[in-house]
Amino acid sequence: MKRIRSIVRGIGSYLPERVVTNYDLEKVMDTSHDWIVQRTGIEERHIAADDEPTSALGIKAAQAALADAGLTPADIDLIICATSTPDYTFPSTATQIQFGLGMSHGAAFDLQAVCTGFVYAVATADKFLASGSHKRALVIGAETFSRILDWNDRTTCVLFGDGAGAIVLEAAEGEGTSADRGVLTSHLRSDGRYRDKLYVDGGPGSTKTTGVLKMEGRDVFRFAVGMVTDVVADAFKATGTTPEELKWFVPHQANKRIITASAEKLGIAPEKVVITVNKHGNTSAASIPLALDVACKDGRIKKGDLVMIEAIGGGFTWGSALIRW
Ligand code: UT7
Repeated sequence: MKRIRSIVRGIGSYLPERVVTNYDLEKVMDTSHDWIVQRTGIEERHIAADDEPTSALGIKAAQAALADAGLTPADIDLIICATSTPDYTFPSTATQIQFGLGMSHGAAFDLQAVCTGFVYAVATADKFLASGSHKRALVIGAETFSRILDWNDRTTCVLFGDGAGAIVLEAAEGEGTSADRGVLTSHLRSDGRYRDKLYVDGGPGSTKTTGVLKMEGRDVFRFAVGMVTDVVADAFKATGTTPEELKWFVPHQANKRIITASAEKLGIAPEKVVITVNKHGNTSAASIPLALDVACKDGRIKKGDLVMIEAIGGGFTWGSALIRW
């Protein structure tokens, strides 16, 4: 049966200029390049300049995605920005980006699902487009996690980086089969029992401060590898597709060991896995669109390829989306 699909029209990303390597961190805290690489695969990360808020990164990523799509802001009627590091408590970073793009039409809002934010935003935009209410969405993941890190806590501060990525999704009629281009299915989950495993210890409604990131790394690791694969299996099941048919697996980039263990568990061949955590660190909601952009620009992801995105984040939240590019 024919149905509206959300097709990827364009993609873009932006990384702040300043690169901080593990060797740089070694000089200012009790850590080592070897420890960070062995435990996480991270070699370096980008850090935003003091005058570069999250929206500034998001605007640049959105402009790059629009240019890639051959579109202008006038063609967009929905902006969803996934972020846990908004410029302000309110208004939303999405409206800052809308203003920065010179847009005063359409709707713009933020979505907060921490590292799963981009997957949640793709699923949400897809439902808006499928309903017929909107035609073209900018879906953005933008973060400045460097601002919510405790730089005296070596167990967390070496893991994260800043950046932004964006895609343009466009509504188009499909046949309703898994051969269609576009978002074929999405599966979102959360379980608030784990809310204190990865959190920021401040906020306007509790402490009236911004707070810093706290994480029980081992528990997050165990959950990420042990549980999260359910949503990927659900995506294959819902579409009647298989890991063999999958062309690219683009998971949230938190830790190389989590990524490779998850792919192995799911029966996804290592050469299909896109890894950028070595160069970007964990950029939370920005990590998947950043990785997608790298794999598009270097020619790996091509039109028609079956691409699985998947993430886990604070909450816990987790989710997957299967996209035919
Ligand atoms: O986006 C989703 C959110 N985040 C994640 O997915 C992260 C999930 N968790 C992880 O990736 C891992 O748990 C970490 C990378 C955070 C930690 O790796 P681990 O293998 O679980 O290490 P650990 O916490 O068990 O620590 C091992 C040792 C400890 O020393 P002792 O107690 O054995 O003497 C730590 O104190 O490593 C020490 N350590 C460090 N050493 C050097 C912790 N952080 C560092 C560091 N440099 N930065």
